[in-house]
Amino acid sequence: MEFLKKLCTAIAPSGNESSVHDIIKNEIRAYVDEITTDALGNLIAHKKGAGKKVMLAAHADEIGIIVTYIEKSGLIRFHNIGGVRPLYALSQRVKFLNGIAGVVFYDMAKDIEKISFDDMYIDIGAKSDEEAEKLVNIGDVAGFVGEFFERGDAVVSKALDDRVGCYILIKALKRAQNTDNDVYAVFTSQEELGLRGAATGAYSINPDIALAIDVTDTGDMPGTAPMAVTLGGGAAIKIKDSRSISSGYVVNLLKRLAKDNNLPYQLEVLTRGGTDAGAIHMSRGGVKTATLSVPTRYIHSPCEMVSKTDIETCITLTQKFIEERF
Ligand code: CO
Ligand code: ZN
Repeated sequence: MEFLKKLCTAIAPSGNESSVHDIIKNEIRAYVDEITTDALGNLIAHKKGAGKKVMLAAHADEIGIIVTYIEKSGLIRFHNIGGVRPLYALSQRVKFLNGIAGVVFYDMAKDIEKISFDDMYIDIGAKSDEEAEKLVNIGDVAGFVGEFFERGDAVVSKALDDRVGCYILIKALKRAQNTDNDVYAVFTSQEELGLRGAATGAYSINPDIALAIDVTDTGDMPGTAPMAVTLGGGAAIKIKDSRSISSGYVVNLLKRLAKDNNLPYQLEVLTRGGTDAGAIHMSRGGVKTATLSVPTRYIHSPCEMVSKTDIETCITLTQKFIEERF
């Protein structure tokens, strides 16, 4: 879990994935033939083989904020990067890439239920714009702070979306050394802004088959939409979300691999949201693609929660997928 903690703790809002990539490069160097970075910021690890081209994608970026304006008072105005909810962001701590920390608050004359980012600000403790501008500039980005902890089977942290996917892909890649497949593990950029890295990554690689690994909602909390996915209920094999219908071929393969290896799985239909599969499956003439999802509570909050047994199940299933003879 120390390695997952390291991945989660890195600050890498969309477009600024390099700190996560550095951690990943060090970890997988010995297990792949080539590691490259493309113009959009994808980290592409290639393990060469004579077999089919298999692309696996987990996004390295996380949601965050970007500075839009600095007030005379030294308070910092910002906007969201990706799916940040104003009420989730409120009274949270953020950390900029240079380590400067701040707190998010709001114009208290406004109705708290209806606040938007325009009503909110970040206070870094600066007394003037002059002082603030020495530390933070327009366009600087920050991530939310959320302490990593474990209790029983549960793991809680910020950015488990999608560092847990990166973690699963890294572990599976290390274990799947017996394969003829031509394997591309892609730690994609800018997923949270609309699957941008996955689009260029898939175009360059032109895979025969692809698997995205990402988090998904669960239906087991008060007030959640009816959904057949529970925390700790096993790897979730996505059938559909807003951005893709999974390839029936890949879904059936994942089901068979789960059954053959006694891995618990659940079928997922997510009524909103999408993963890198949304971009990959529509690349060029189309790519047979599915998503393997990690059941996750409180997605896009600084306290996302996943299950260790689900993680382990997803690692084994991904390993078997990489080793499959297509
Ligand atoms: Co997300
Ligand atoms: Zn995600």
